[in-house]
Amino acid sequence: MQLTEFSATNLPMVEQEITQFLMEYTTDEALKESMLYSINAGGKRIRPLLLLATASSFGETLSTPIYQVAGALEMVHTYSLIHDDLPAMDNDDLRRGKPTNHKVFGEAIAILAGDGLLTGAFQLISLTQLEPLKKLLLIQQLASNSGAQGMVAGQTADILGEKQELTIEELAFVHERKTGRLIRYALLAGGILANQPEEVLMCLQKLAGHLGLAFQIRDDLLDVVSTTEKLGKTAGKDAQEGKNTYPRLLGIEKAYAALANEIQQANELVTQLEKDVLVFDGELLRQLIRQFDMEK
Ligand code: IPE
Ligand code: IPE
Ligand code: MG
Ligand code: MG
Ligand code: MG
Repeated sequence: MQLTEFSATNLPMVEQEITQFLMEYTTDEALKESMLYSINAGGKRIRPLLLLATASSFGETLSTPIYQVAGALEMVHTYSLIHDDLPAMDNDDLRRGKPTNHKVFGEAIAILAGDGLLTGAFQLISLTQLEPLKKLLLIQQLASNSGAQGMVAGQTADILGEKQELTIEELAFVHERKTGRLIRYALLAGGILANQPEEVLMCLQKLAGHLGLAFQIRDDLLDVVSTTEKLGKTAGKDAQEGKNTYPRLLGIEKAYAALANEIQQANELVTQLEKDVLVFDGELLRQLIRQFDMEK
């Protein structure tokens, strides 16, 4: 199937699950408005797409619980962006082509909207119609990949690393956590939902490791070579904030090469899955991986 058709069919289902949950389970109108503002501001939805594409590449039929887990992941991602943009963190005014959450609702409500989306993500998975053990594993893995050993740890290292120069190994470790871990969850959850055995889940996580690093290298490059208009967020912001990035540490050319290398390794792992797993069609994942690439 073509990725465009796959997205058009399935993403509205994910968005509907998030909206329905937030409408039903939020009591405060101002908080609801703030959470829905960031959720509905757009975004590429790459994480839910990766989750859905992974599950369906193993022949799994997409259904409400899968859309709900994908929705929960997008909720955690959106919370991470609201907090990432706060004055105390990256101090950004523009996100997804719109004023950042705190610019519209104020810092206090933006912090609380992030808190609500994060907590709600776990509530949403807990409410799904899935077998209890599978549900528990999905919740546990979302917690470890997004929390203090995952994305939050990476964000901490990113902030503490400002104004000092990290080695490329240290930076790769920041990127693997701040961005890589939610992408890792996307593929892992897709595999869990499609009832895959441990060795396949391991391979999916390895593949996701390359994708996660690729995604943040691309994000770092875009900050340098793209425009605010195209990105929907302020370009050139990393240098201004003294961030460690691939282009800063390696130069533009080597950063492009590092991106290409991660993408190649990810594609090789898709090929390996096609060889090793009886029911697995890597076509959708390949199309998604193409979106991680950049025209020079
Ligand atoms: C931005 O993520 C933050 C990073 C981890 C680089 P995305 O580029 O996926 O942002 P949206 O969801 O499309 O806005
Ligand atoms: C953000 O990385 C990663 C998370 C939000 C977890 P960046 O700070 O580079 O993301 P942008 O560039 O603001 O989207
Ligand atoms: Mg940041
Ligand atoms: Mg940022
Ligand atoms: Mg960035």
